[in-house]
Amino acid sequence: MERDPLRENRAIIDRADAEMARLFAQRMAAVREIARYKRDQGLPILDAGREQEVLERNLAHIQDEALRGYYLRFLKSTMAVSRAYQRQLTAFDRPAEGQMLSVDLGENSYEIVVERGCIRRAGDYLALRRRAFLVTDDGVPAGYVQAVAEQCGAWEIFRLPRGEQSKSFENFRLMLSRMLACGLSRSDCVIAVGGGMVGDLAGFAAACYMRGVDFYSIPTTLLAQVDASIGGKTAIDLEGIKNAAGAFYQPRRVLIDPDTLSTLPPRQIASGLSEALKMALCLDPEGFSLLEEARPEAHLDEIILRALRAKKGIVERDEREQGLRRVLNFGHTLGHGIESLQGEGGLNHGECVALGMLPMCSGPLRERLAKALRRLGLPTACALSADAVIRAVLHDKKLTGGQVHAVLAEDVGRYQIQPMTPDALKARYLACFGEEGT
Ligand code: GLY
Repeated sequence: MERDPLRENRAIIDRADAEMARLFAQRMAAVREIARYKRDQGLPILDAGREQEVLERNLAHIQDEALRGYYLRFLKSTMAVSRAYQRQLTAFDRPAEGQMLSVDLGENSYEIVVERGCIRRAGDYLALRRRAFLVTDDGVPAGYVQAVAEQCGAWEIFRLPRGEQSKSFENFRLMLSRMLACGLSRSDCVIAVGGGMVGDLAGFAAACYMRGVDFYSIPTTLLAQVDASIGGKTAIDLEGIKNAAGAFYQPRRVLIDPDTLSTLPPRQIASGLSEALKMALCLDPEGFSLLEEARPEAHLDEIILRALRAKKGIVERDEREQGLRRVLNFGHTLGHGIESLQGEGGLNHGECVALGMLPMCSGPLRERLAKALRRLGLPTACALSADAVIRAVLHDKKLTGGQVHAVLAEDVGRYQIQPMTPDALKARYLACFGEEGT
């Protein structure tokens, strides 16, 4: 009789699938028992070190080089399924203390842990039994980075001067050189401990070094916790243009410890609240009311979580900003223009975004936003001339057919993304701030 390779191989696959189903049930029964044990002992579900170990050990069983990548994907998704099952059984890793959000981006998926004190337990959440290249700046309390370093197998700390001017090509080059000099390999990791500048620069270096090493983000400012640290945007500034070179490179995990906010000056908290307000105005009406009415310092955890949920919903649908994700730039077109005109001691990022949002709101909403901004200690008047701001916007932004992508808000939770000419943008600025920007 003639051989039928289709039938023969399908029979093999069917037997393998049946065997795998049996083993899956067995595996999940063990996973369930572990979840219960961890819950009773107050242990976190995630044990990144153990996951790493399991991956390495099992990969050694696969001899066929071409299959190793596929097997890794298979094993990683098995682990993700096990974690999801454990989380469902225990509700949360640490019900009384923390929360965890998953950003679902296929192979680039990751989790965001929001938990007070989690910096000191970073080893529970991140695979740190290897060499870590820790990036921070001189404005971040040294204790934070030290706490993370002490949980790593080996570490190197790279400390930048604080401020946007550090997001330079020269620092990027220096960072890569130091990674090489300290022998960082492809299986090691880069960890950002700090604000948006640190995360942008460290993330970009992680994306480029040896074509990409694992990147963990530990944001310690409110601005970075609500926005910059998730979504995978990494960049440096070039020739005075913000974020002129960069990559979409998702972190492997994000750890947010709201306790770190206790060391932030109130003006920096307000700057972060401006980004949270941006997210809430476009995407989360209930969150907007919270920011309008409540004392923000008493609700920081909720403000962070609400902003993250809103952002996650957008990033999951448009990871690489082909359209929808542009809503996250609400207030940033004019905001970046205003920011680039600030000298030493001028307005910070969140303050400039606050100003940038106002002209993009419809009349009644503008009033409502201005009231909320004042309450949060953010500015609502801009003394820069419209011409100077528009010139700065045009220097900063890539134009598509001579227009910018503008986000216009009609009401809380209602926005539109539409092309806008520089003249129309200028008219909006003038209508909001007046001829001399009063
Ligand atoms: N901060 C805007 C974004 O992540 O797209």
